[in-house]
Amino acid sequence: MSTSTGATAAPSRTREEFTGRWAFILAAIGSAVGLGNIWRFPYVAYEHGGGAFVIPYLVALLTAGIPLLFLDYAIGHRFRGSAPMAFRRMSRWTEAIGWWQVLICAVIGVYYAAIIAWSIMYTWFSLDQRWGDDPEGFLFSTYLQQVKDPNPSFDIVPGVFWPMVAVWGVLLLIMGLGIRRGVALASMIGIPLLVVMFVVLVIISLTLPGAMQGLDALFTPNWAALKEPGVWIAAYGQIFFSLSVGFGIMITYASYLKKRTNLTASGLVVGFSNSGFEILAGIGVFSALGFMAQASGVQVSEVAGSGIGLAFIAFPTLISQAPAGALIGVLFFASLVIAGFTSLISILEVVVSAVKDKLGWDRWTAVLVVVGISAIISISLFSTTTGVAMLDTMDAFANNFGIVGAALVAVIVVMWIARRGGGLVAHLNSVSSFRVGRVYRILVGAVLPVLLGWMWIEWIRENAATPYGGYPTDFLAVYGWGLAIGSVVLAVLLSLIPWSHKSSLHAEESVNEIDHTAPVASKES
Ligand code: ALA
Repeated sequence: MSTSTGATAAPSRTREEFTGRWAFILAAIGSAVGLGNIWRFPYVAYEHGGGAFVIPYLVALLTAGIPLLFLDYAIGHRFRGSAPMAFRRMSRWTEAIGWWQVLICAVIGVYYAAIIAWSIMYTWFSLDQRWGDDPEGFLFSTYLQQVKDPNPSFDIVPGVFWPMVAVWGVLLLIMGLGIRRGVALASMIGIPLLVVMFVVLVIISLTLPGAMQGLDALFTPNWAALKEPGVWIAAYGQIFFSLSVGFGIMITYASYLKKRTNLTASGLVVGFSNSGFEILAGIGVFSALGFMAQASGVQVSEVAGSGIGLAFIAFPTLISQAPAGALIGVLFFASLVIAGFTSLISILEVVVSAVKDKLGWDRWTAVLVVVGISAIISISLFSTTTGVAMLDTMDAFANNFGIVGAALVAVIVVMWIARRGGGLVAHLNSVSSFRVGRVYRILVGAVLPVLLGWMWIEWIRENAATPYGGYPTDFLAVYGWGLAIGSVVLAVLLSLIPWSHKSSLHAEESVNEIDHTAPVASKES
């Protein structure tokens, strides 16, 4: 097919593709199942009512997670491009939404690598229980060497620096190898291994004395907590992060699918696998907390500090007390490493594919530049004595301001301003076996904008009034609000930069125009 743009016609470039639907499903599960499931879910649940959290979490999955997952798939598959390119092809002026998502991924990517690096070291520390009898003191003082002032110090902590260098080195290699031999293969090996290790871990945790007390804490609903808006906001934020929706990942992955692929059925497999794994992680972590509570004769709510250190404080405590503690430790932290890697690959692929598409670069050049710059920023900020406060702040703002805000703008623009909802639903139904209809359109077009708008404004209002995490306001002005608002401005600026004539923006063969009169549920080859 001709690209028909005259003398500066774009060369007809073939987009990389997954080998088949299962390679895509595994990569999408690899993206979804990540630190969000194992590291983030337990502490977010913990901070928002423990057991009370499961109900808003499941409501969020059904009313927002899966519908947005379908929408991301539809945009990526129909317009076959990285997030900025897909939005641009949808409606020229919506490109900035894609860049906003790219920038959110760039921010998440730099701190995500730090947690994988901590997990690598903790896999090792588990063997001799290096934390002794003070896991909290060991984490913050001995290992991370954190100082009180959250502003960047650039004093390097070698125990974090070297594993971070290793993480970025491996990423460079995997991502440079491309979609089939790198991105997909990492999940095809990593996910089965992760499932086996994690199931063994959960079985061991469930056999510990006191495990049932922990499960009671997780599954006994605290109805009063359901009246707090913060609990709902956290549940929706968790679902978006955990399912990798609303920040470009699923748009990017769906753009690498073959033209006829059963999208909604794949989405259901991915959505339920991810939440199944998350609940499994909750069961594993809370059984362990139950054991610790019983051993110390206190309530489950008292056995661990909250916040980002939960996994790195509660688990070491457990490892020291439980029979076969070292095995539990290795299984737990190695699971974090694998789950983290397959997700971080997907997060960075959003940035790599956007740069590649816009500038017309080959994969290796885009990977070297994107991974190289991310690695330098990530290592400078998070292998230092001040990384933890920044990590906590960037995680909160990227999720609650960035992901929720970008998802809100995307649904309003797609459904109401560009009015592409009908076409995208038709696209989904033309290739999928599970059809979506009026209920779906009401959810995405009406319920989600109201819900996301309320969450977003509520979070902004709350955090404008009370400084997040009690950090100094000048620190938050830069690393919280500054990054959050700066990303929006930068996204608009990036969307104004012209596309390189070498980019595939105009390559018509890249847009997936399914014949909507063709029989439904045709399967990919
Ligand atoms: N979905 C990824 C996670 O849960 C980002 O960590």
